Amino acid sequence: MDLTRAAAEALDAADPLAAFRDRFAGAGEDGLLYLDGNSLGRMPVETPAALARVVEEEWARGLVRSWSSWVGAATRVGDLLAEGVLGARPGEVLVADSTTVDLYKLLVAAADARPGRDVLVCSADDFPTDRYVVAGVAQARGMTVREVPADADEGLDPAVLATALDERVAVVVLSAVAYRSGALADVAAVTRTAREAGALVVWDLSHAAGAVPVDLAADGVDLAVGCTYKYLNGGPGAPAFLYVRRELQERLRQPIWGWFGQRDQFAMGPAYDPVPGVERFAVGTPPVLALAAVEVGARLVAEAGVDRLAAKGRALGELVVALADAWLAPHGVALASPRDPARRGAHVTLASPSAWQLTQALVDRGVVPDFRTPDRVRLGPAPLYTRFVDVWDAMACLRDVLASGAHEGYPAERSRVT
Ligand SMILES: Cc1ncc(COP(=O)(O)O)c(C=O)c1O
Repeated sequence: MDLTRAAAEALDAADPLAAFRDRFAGAGEDGLLYLDGNSLGRMPVETPAALARVVEEEWARGLVRSWSSWVGAATRVGDLLAEGVLGARPGEVLVADSTTVDLYKLLVAAADARPGRDVLVCSADDFPTDRYVVAGVAQARGMTVREVPADADEGLDPAVLATALDERVAVVVLSAVAYRSGALADVAAVTRTAREAGALVVWDLSHAAGAVPVDLAADGVDLAVGCTYKYLNGGPGAPAFLYVRRELQERLRQPIWGWFGQRDQFAMGPAYDPVPGVERFAVGTPPVLALAAVEVGARLVAEAGVDRLAAKGRALGELVVALADAWLAPHGVALASPRDPARRGAHVTLASPSAWQLTQALVDRGVVPDFRTPDRVRLGPAPLYTRFVDVWDAMACLRDVLASGAHEGYPAERSRVT
């Protein structure tokens, strides 16, 4: 690979998604080399106007009369994600609550659907909230957790997972893209193996949606959840999405019996009787403002096309890896993601004993990655608005920091959250 800056510029010139950069506030203006789109995506330029419309027209003037349009927003935005991003069918995705709460709802519903089975399986290296929800549900139900060991860099080995699956396993919780390393799971194969063992899988798509091809229908996925504030650019605290395969919906009942899941909600009936569709996984009043922001982000991703985004994300990752090999390896920085691009999501992780100091030095120089324990710098160049030349400049900055030792002046002990 040609590692000159001119080669990166040529990649940008040929990028079919290049124009999307102007659709994001700050991109190209704030001078930031923002490589944290997998934590919090940039704000679409259209978002303030979408929010202002809801505030000024629907809330300020329409008041309670606006509920006629608000009431369907969670499924309207869900359908947008289903068709434009997740490879699902209309009526299979709902935008509601946080990823943590959605995972809890689907996990309990799935465990109920597997009576007589008393084991929940998760990856020992999965995102904390996933492991905590699994542990909490297991404790509440008197179930056992099997945490499958996973390599911090290479992800979960499907063969190791298979050894944890037997007739006691009710539900498996896994991330499609590992939050630390970016390791990409084979969603279809794992779903099939779990199904053969009689278990359901709840996939966490937080680092996958909008970054890698997701095809829930083709992969035979039953249940999934994911964040909308990462590659979907829905904004801080944006509600999550949940997916339930249509054929399963009526058989599942979630544990939080709220009135937004109720049949004929405004009849104010005496007892909980959930609607047949995906809305039965809703709980309470939807966050209308936040949904308007998710809608803008989801439309942008759908417009760009997941396949094109995934191809660019992979190419950006290849550039990170090539530059890390050439420039950073001599300074003791190692790749901490799968080397095979087909096994990686859209972020790349580097390991260094000085990871925390390097992260601080980069942030002070206008390069924004994030730090992950124990010694990782995670680079998430979101394909919708990151240029190849941004990656080149960020990596050059990291190279220069390492060469000069500038990071050594920063505290070695982590003192704040990033
Ligand atoms: C894999 C994964 N799941 C879940 C979450 C967060 O869940 P919540 O939106 O409930 O905070 C994150 C946040 O980074 C994540 O990376």
